[in-house]
Amino acid sequence: MKKTNNSAVFFNIDKIKNTIIEGDTIENLKKLPNESIDLIFADPPYFMQTEGELHRTDGTKFAGVEDEWDKFGNYDEYDKFCLDWLKECKRILKKDGAIWVIGSFQNIYRLGYIMQNLDFWILNDIIWSKPNAAPNFAGTRFQNSHETLIWCTKSKKSKYTFNYKTMKYLNNNKQDKSIWDIGICIGNERLKDKNGKKIHSTQKPEKLLYKIILSTSKPNDIILDPFFGTGTTGAIAKLLGRNYIGIEREHSYNEAAQKRIKSIVPLNDDISNLKLEVKPPKVPMKKLIEAGIIKENEILYNKDGKKICKVNIDGNVDDGTEILSIHKMSAKYLNKTNYNGWDYFYIKKEELISINKLRYDYMEEKHD
Ligand SMILES: C[S@@+](CC[C@H](N)C(=O)[O-])C[C@H]1O[C@@H](n2cnc3c(N)ncnc32)[C@H](O)[C@@H]1O
Repeated sequence: MKKTNNSAVFFNIDKIKNTIIEGDTIENLKKLPNESIDLIFADPPYFMQTEGELHRTDGTKFAGVEDEWDKFGNYDEYDKFCLDWLKECKRILKKDGAIWVIGSFQNIYRLGYIMQNLDFWILNDIIWSKPNAAPNFAGTRFQNSHETLIWCTKSKKSKYTFNYKTMKYLNNNKQDKSIWDIGICIGNERLKDKNGKKIHSTQKPEKLLYKIILSTSKPNDIILDPFFGTGTTGAIAKLLGRNYIGIEREHSYNEAAQKRIKSIVPLNDDISNLKLEVKPPKVPMKKLIEAGIIKENEILYNKDGKKICKVNIDGNVDDGTEILSIHKMSAKYLNKTNYNGWDYFYIKKEELISINKLRYDYMEEKHD
């Protein structure tokens, strides 16, 4: 623990990386240093207020969320609890950090209201749609088959992480949407005790955390989960090469989480290392001409091998009618307002070579 000027005592963040802190979340959040966390995933109590037992149509009891940790006296008590932990989350997030909060219809509107009042900036609300949700056994309402996630940055000004290209690639090269179809946690993934009973009533699916962590964090980021439960966040953080910190009150959940995380082997693949997000090198046309990679008066073609224009010594291009930048010229031929010329033009050697590839060749040859 580190003492600061105002005599508050804080954890040393490096010492608590990749550990679970056992105890009350608000008490322990208060011990985390200001602006020390990159991403938070919070799956707080729902305050479900389930009354009486739920039964399936065959009369057997259905295990909903009846745990002690989900009980509060009234909405005032629940709201105060949420305000207290969310305030601490805001304080400990780095200035460009972000937070995900998940909830059901019982609590998500209260959480969203508190978060907006604290000046978190909402980027999306995501519908986690469950193809295998439990039915409404009594047939008195629609089947409740989703939960909502709110994704916010610390403030409107935060320069947050969003791994757009990676998510598009994983969605068959289409921009990914805000409705996610992911089954609830069942089968081998569901942690069970020695009698085959579920260890936790609300263990979240790994696929959900994979998508959250992959889309909005970078390798080695620190991800905090203030309601750690069975450690789904920690398991996926480790899998993707990120660090985690968990806070959880219940010792039995912590034991299960620790065992689970220990067995995870990091993927260390191109997707988790965000290879698709690497920005193209900033090399202007003029540099390629100076380096002799593209010649003055060289003809530029489109991908179908049609001659479009020739290159001027200053890096602009001339189609016989106008002299423009490669971007404006490509937009002209595509009938668009804007286009990235690096993706449009080719030079001809034995075959067509993308001018974008020439930028990478230039960088590899280590021109300055
Ligand atoms: C909805 S569950 C989280 C489940 C978790 N996401 C998972 O995948 O296993 C909420 C967790 O918060 C814990 N919890 C509730 N209130 C707490 C508090 N004041 N301090 C610490 N933990 C708390 C509960 O014990 C419970 O495990």
